Parts: sequence; structure tokens; C-alpha cells
Amino acid sequence: MKKSIITLGILCALFAGCKQKPNEPDKEKFEPVFMEAMEAWEQQQSQENQVITTIMERRSIRKYKPQAVERDKMDIILRCGINAPNGQNKQSWEVRVVDNPQLLDEMREAMAKGHPDLNPEMVKGCFRDAPTMVFIARDPAYDFSAYDCGLLAENMVLSAWSMGIGSICLGSPVRFLTDNDVCKPLVEKLGFSEGYELSLCVGFGYPDEAPAAKPRDWNKVQYVD
Ligand SMILES: Cc1cc2nc3c(=O)[nH]c(=O)nc-3n(C[C@H](O)[C@H](O)[C@H](O)COP(=O)(O)O)c2cc1C
Repeated sequence: MKKSIITLGILCALFAGCKQKPNEPDKEKFEPVFMEAMEAWEQQQSQENQVITTIMERRSIRKYKPQAVERDKMDIILRCGINAPNGQNKQSWEVRVVDNPQLLDEMREAMAKGHPDLNPEMVKGCFRDAPTMVFIARDPAYDFSAYDCGLLAENMVLSAWSMGIGSICLGSPVRFLTDNDVCKPLVEKLGFSEGYELSLCVGFGYPDEAPAAKPRDWNKVQYVD
């Protein structure tokens, strides 16, 4: 009898030992209030946070399937975009969407023509073959308009990713479209209001690649006491 009680005791101890993960603190050493907080935290951790998952898993996509993003889906993405925080709610942006492959081709050709010194294939590739391109212009009369546009773009990129749609923010087409006269008619075709300046492009489409995350430098972040 005594022997079986000892064996049972050893088994219980072993079982308890197995249940505790290597780095898990011994909960019995903590005050009940602390335990409650810890359990609440654990519960929170176990419920997946979709926003954080989307932010952490989003990647810039540079290879796309050919079909453009359906316009009803783009509408959701665009509405998320204009829901971004923006200075004084001035909404100092204007947005144009192009999913017409002929017009995108015309733009590619014009950008290459406007940069005869550069490799034409490199210039034409600046949209990264995204089948849906969004052009964002800013109101230069407002000194924070570039931030407004950036936040709008980020809202679009994240909402798209949460819907399985890839994206890429693009600065190079802004330069290629605005630093020469050949592309002028095509920028005019986008129909931005007088004075607005093209400031960022964002390509959207269904991803045809799954790139790894690029490293980030945590040392750039510091708490200051
Ligand atoms: C303002 C801006 C301009 C960018 N311009 C280009 C570009 O012209 N071409 C390109 O391939 N990627 C461009 N990118 C994408 C970045 O290269 C990319 O976000 C960065 O390498 C981090 O990778 P990740 O988005 O996958 O985390 C741009 C991103 C931003 C925010």
C-alpha cells in the first residue's frame, strides 16, 4: 500500500513536471492578483489578433497573377484608405485607380520613352506588373499632405492584405511620370485637381510570390525616460 502511494506520488510529480513548459514560471509562487493578470494575458495571447497578424505578415509583392482586383474589393480597400487619420481631416489627397491594361501599357511605354538614357525594360517594370495601379496625389498647399497620403496608402495596403490581396508602394513611377514632358499627357489623363502633385503609387493584385520578411532594426526604437 505504502509503495503504491509513493509510486503514485512520483507519477503525479512527473506529470506536473511535464505540463510545465521549460520557461513557464511556477504559478504557485505568485500572488492571486498577479495570477489573474497573467491568465488574462494568456487568454488574450491565445486569441489571434487579426490586425497585428496582418501588419506583421504583410510583405511587398513584386509578382502578380494577371487578373486585376475586382472593383467591389477595390472599393473596400479604397474606403479603408480614405478612413485613414489625416491632418485636420483636410483629406489632402486625391486618388485615381487604373485597372485598364491598355492604359497601364501606355504609361509604361511613355515612361520608357521619357527616359531614353535608362534601360527601357527596367523603367517599364517599375509598376512591378501589378494589374491594378492606384495613383495618389497630394495637396502641396498643406504641409502635412505627404503624411496624409502615406497613411492612406498604408490603410489600403493592410486592408488589401487582410483580404488576400497583395500590394506594393512605389516611388519610382512617381519620378518616371513627373520628371519629363513625354508623360505629361498621361498624368493629365489621371485628372487630378489643379495644383495637386502625384506623390505615391500603390500596385495591387493577387500575389504570385511569397517573399520572406525583410529584417527591421529594433535599435532604431528607444524608450526615453
Ligand atoms: C515610399 C515607398 C516607396 C517605394 N518604392 C518602391 C519602388 O519604387 N520599387 C519597389 O520595388 N519597391 C518600392 N517600395 C517597397 C519597399 O522596397 C519595401 O516596402 C521595403 O523593402 C520593405 O519590404 P516589405 O514591404 O516587404 O516589408 C517602396 C516603399 C515605400 C514605402
